[in-house]
Amino acid sequence: MMTPDRADLPPSPDDLRSVADPRPTTLATESTHWVHVCQGKSCRKLGAAQVLAAFQAQPHCPVPIVPGSCLGQCGNGPMVVVLPEKTWYCRVSPAEVPAIVDRHLHQGQPIPAMLYPKFHPPCPH
Ligand code: FES
Repeated sequence: MMTPDRADLPPSPDDLRSVADPRPTTLATESTHWVHVCQGKSCRKLGAAQVLAAFQAQPHCPVPIVPGSCLGQCGNGPMVVVLPEKTWYCRVSPAEVPAIVDRHLHQGQPIPAMLYPKFHPPCPH
């Protein structure tokens, strides 16, 4: 039986805690859920700072927003992960942030069309 390459697996919650900024992580550990917004070099080149600012500008975001380090998926960013369930969004734009906050964080409905297909393959039907 083949064992999947570690690089093909999404990071564990412990992995993500270790790459996050220590200040917001303190807040995050007090909440059931949180959002990791990658601020690694590749994602920043693709607009991650603007995505982070868009989350922080949401007036009623129900979970902590955590700026964090590279998630190992460079080139597909800006990457955003909702934790602890590990729902990955890729190529997030600032204009998409209100939908993530409203539909996913408030209503509990992830947005299939925006999910990272590597970890959330599209339904075959
Ligand atoms: S810089 Fe964001 S996944 Fe690597």
